[in-house]
Amino acid sequence: LAIPDLVDRLLTWYDQHGRQLPWRESPDPYRIWVSEIMLQQTQVATVIPYYERFMAELPTVQALAAVDQDRLNKLWQGLGYYSRARHLKAAAEKMVRETAGELPDRAADLIKLPGIGPYTAGAVASIAFGERTPAVDGNVMRILSRLTADETPVNTSKSRAHYTPLADRLVPAHRPGDFNQALMDLGATICIPKSPRCPSCPWQAGCLAHARGRTQDLPRRGKKAK
Ligand code: ADE
Repeated sequence: LAIPDLVDRLLTWYDQHGRQLPWRESPDPYRIWVSEIMLQQTQVATVIPYYERFMAELPTVQALAAVDQDRLNKLWQGLGYYSRARHLKAAAEKMVRETAGELPDRAADLIKLPGIGPYTAGAVASIAFGERTPAVDGNVMRILSRLTADETPVNTSKSRAHYTPLADRLVPAHRPGDFNQALMDLGATICIPKSPRCPSCPWQAGCLAHARGRTQDLPRRGKKAK
């Protein structure tokens, strides 16, 4: 399948089967940023109640910049990786000081903030600001490895650099954030690690691993830990 067909099929699938999640209900960049930080090392189902409590108490960048670190740690208790909460507050303070509390709107600038790596920068820039930029994590690499029957391991220090150019070519100018979130949902519900649900996949007709009967063997995992 050509890229425009893949894009159309995935967005149509997302419109019908995408998950309804609290951070998808508002276009506020602050809310999207906080959700992506929480989702970095924590599963969606765990994040939801923390996200709701956090937003009820700290609804703006200004509120986050002003909150006591102790109070913030309480809101974070149970999510783990407390450095995420520290970085979140440090980034909020910087935004209040330097840009009246506005987030940068490009991945290239978001990545300079504490706690924001390439995946989170791409997710926030595309979802909150409509930048045509990829958001490549392990789930996305698994999908791309299968789609193109690419034997490159998905868990080494080189994996992201290998899969990012393909992800970049796929992301459409129209609805880039929905496209990236559709990939997240595809990886979470259909193109799962074990026994993927290929009959329900919008990309089945274009998937080389499926055509070759190799969905159980891909993606490959290297020895080197990520
Ligand atoms: N994992 C990371 N970001 C996500 C998002 N925006 N929606 C669902 N799962 C995610």
